[in-house]
Amino acid sequence: MNEDIERILITEKEISERVKELGKAISRDYSGKDPVLVAVLRGAIVFLCDLLKEISIPMSLDFLSISSYSGQVQTGVVRILKDLDQNIEDKYVILIEDIIDTGLTLNYILRTLKARKPAGVRVCALLDKKVRRIVDIPIDYRGFEIPDEFVVGYGMDYEQGYRNLPFIAVLKEEILGK
Ligand code: IMP
Ligand code: MG
Repeated sequence: MNEDIERILITEKEISERVKELGKAISRDYSGKDPVLVAVLRGAIVFLCDLLKEISIPMSLDFLSISSYSGQVQTGVVRILKDLDQNIEDKYVILIEDIIDTGLTLNYILRTLKARKPAGVRVCALLDKKVRRIVDIPIDYRGFEIPDEFVVGYGMDYEQGYRNLPFIAVLKEEILGK
């Protein structure tokens, strides 16, 4: 696995420091609001697990699973594979995403969730690949802005692999080209 890595973009230490800051900000902003953290499976789960531990206020958890990517190619098709288990009407929702690229996926999710009349929906994304954005998405809590490169690790995959890397890395070109 490690021999497939071109370079490490964000180290474990950098991630953990930033996640702590995000957790603090959310705890401060949502005090007394009992927010629902909605994580988008599967890429966001490592981020979610670390973030949860840094949130010091009461909150609950739910999951959404959608299909969008196959390998590196954005299909443009967003389909809900697993919907939320709970009703979010009048709830404060925080959407937890691993990475926002074109923004198409999140745009779709936001529209779907807002139709359910929550008290509010905000976005918390670990990575922002801003230069690739097609639809404008407000990111309320952002971990890092990254350049236009395909990244893996810390939950993010390339063809379902590399999710267990503890850092965020760029793969060698020959691996991506395969
Ligand atoms: P978007 O709809 O283009 O914003 O794509 C968002 C989703 O695509 C993310 O939630 C990821 O699951 C996936 N994705 C986008 N860029 C990358 C990447 O560099 N590495 C791994 N997954 C990515
Ligand atoms: Mg994702």
